[in-house]
Amino acid sequence: MKVKEQLAIQYGVDSILLKKSYLDKLTELLQSDLDFHNQRSNYSSHNLHSFPAKFPPQLPKKFILELTTPQDIVLDPMAGSGTTVLEAFLANRKGIGFDIDPLAIKLAIIKTTIFNRKKLVEYARLIYSKAQNEIEYKSEYLDKVLKSHFDSRTAQFIDYWFLPEVQRELIALLNQIVKIKDEKIRSFFEVIFSSIIITKTGGVSLALDLAHTRPHRAKIIFDKKHKLLFGEEYLDQNKRRDYVTKTFRSPLEEFEKKFHTSINGLLEYDPARIDPEIRFCDSQQLQLPDCSVDLIVTSPPYASNAIDYMRAHKFSLVWLGYQVDNLTLKRKAYIGGELVSNFLFEELPDFSKEKVRLVSGIDRKRGNVLKRYYSEMTRALKEMYRVLRPGKAAIVVVGSSIMRGIDTETHKCLAEIGENLGFIVPRIGVRKLDRNKRMLPAGMTTDLNSQIQQRMHEEYVIGFYKASEPGPRGIL
Ligand SMILES: C[S@@+](CC[C@H](N)C(=O)[O-])C[C@H]1O[C@@H](n2cnc3c(N)ncnc32)[C@H](O)[C@@H]1O
Repeated sequence: MKVKEQLAIQYGVDSILLKKSYLDKLTELLQSDLDFHNQRSNYSSHNLHSFPAKFPPQLPKKFILELTTPQDIVLDPMAGSGTTVLEAFLANRKGIGFDIDPLAIKLAIIKTTIFNRKKLVEYARLIYSKAQNEIEYKSEYLDKVLKSHFDSRTAQFIDYWFLPEVQRELIALLNQIVKIKDEKIRSFFEVIFSSIIITKTGGVSLALDLAHTRPHRAKIIFDKKHKLLFGEEYLDQNKRRDYVTKTFRSPLEEFEKKFHTSINGLLEYDPARIDPEIRFCDSQQLQLPDCSVDLIVTSPPYASNAIDYMRAHKFSLVWLGYQVDNLTLKRKAYIGGELVSNFLFEELPDFSKEKVRLVSGIDRKRGNVLKRYYSEMTRALKEMYRVLRPGKAAIVVVGSSIMRGIDTETHKCLAEIGENLGFIVPRIGVRKLDRNKRMLPAGMTTDLNSQIQQRMHEEYVIGFYKASEPGPRGIL
């Protein structure tokens, strides 16, 4: 029996409402190789800035090319660094990217902007030489600027995470960047600036790893010639020396290097391309009309705050004018957050409810955190259903989480929630994560032997299909 007939029986839908060729294609795609290992993912501007749990560009590309045609509308309601939107742009589709993270929005916009390279090179030279001059001859002035630049809480954060000489170089670079009048060009250099701080290994900061929920601070710092700069007291007593040691990197040098590696990937002008729309918007309340989108490709956060975006992003956002306390407040709005008091929970279907019950049985608070996540995802999926055109699909990439020893089986729960909202789920694809490439959540890089850990190194690609009319189980 063909996919269409099987699904018609399974979901009790009139088979006329299912588009055969589209469903066959969707199912085939979900069955195909979705690992994309050994494939270059650093083409175009994809590698301008690292981003936790960014998916490989080949993933959205595959679905965009196969399931849409030029000028169609492709949405990513949790756009992150803009991988889907950039692929939509490259394929001459209209990309729409929403996020609530200020750094994510900035990155996605810059990655899909056409720049005049010659102009950027001129600006880069100017920034570099003027910053170098200030570092060499005006260090007292730079210290003064540093003192007046941050409120006291932000200054404490900066002092804890950045060596004084690094702070001086960073403020010298910023001093030049803020003078740029053209907003897009200024934003481009802010992104380069941010990219030397936010890397898997914490860039020029003292953080050892920004992918983890709680970054650790280096205790021992060497310069490039292996001369000890900082942390003599830890040298002898600390047996785990390698884990707390970092080599000093000059922001000025890193900035120059990063600029040169980034410039080649920038986009060329092509009249067929359609400017994307990228802005702040909560995925639980999409600012889009009903039935207006041809394809959604997205990857929501993990359950239970496994990747804390703001915790990593504030390392550069504090330099770009945000106050550390305000950023901490913003964290509460992220899907997968941990605050549950006064939270509006949704009624969950059976399997998801049972998962919450199991976790709650061990730890009530964690159970509520999981319930919060599934409630937020219910609202996000409901919105995806609303804005999708009938006969079209949403591709949702998720990983599972372990809460109090229980595998949340997020993919199964989200599939169930989606079906409950009227979606048809023809298949859940599986992809193996490339640990060398991804910034993964804490706990995902150790003990590869356990079954649960193995599952944590997989990701699930759920295909949600919206039939021409809501299925009988649909509640919309
Ligand atoms: C896994 S990341 C997306 C990564 C993206 N696929 C990429 O390739 O860069 C999840 C994103 O969801 C965003 N997010 C969290 N809560 C959100 C909300 N309520 N509305 C919109 N975006 C949200 C986070 O800021 C983060 O950028």
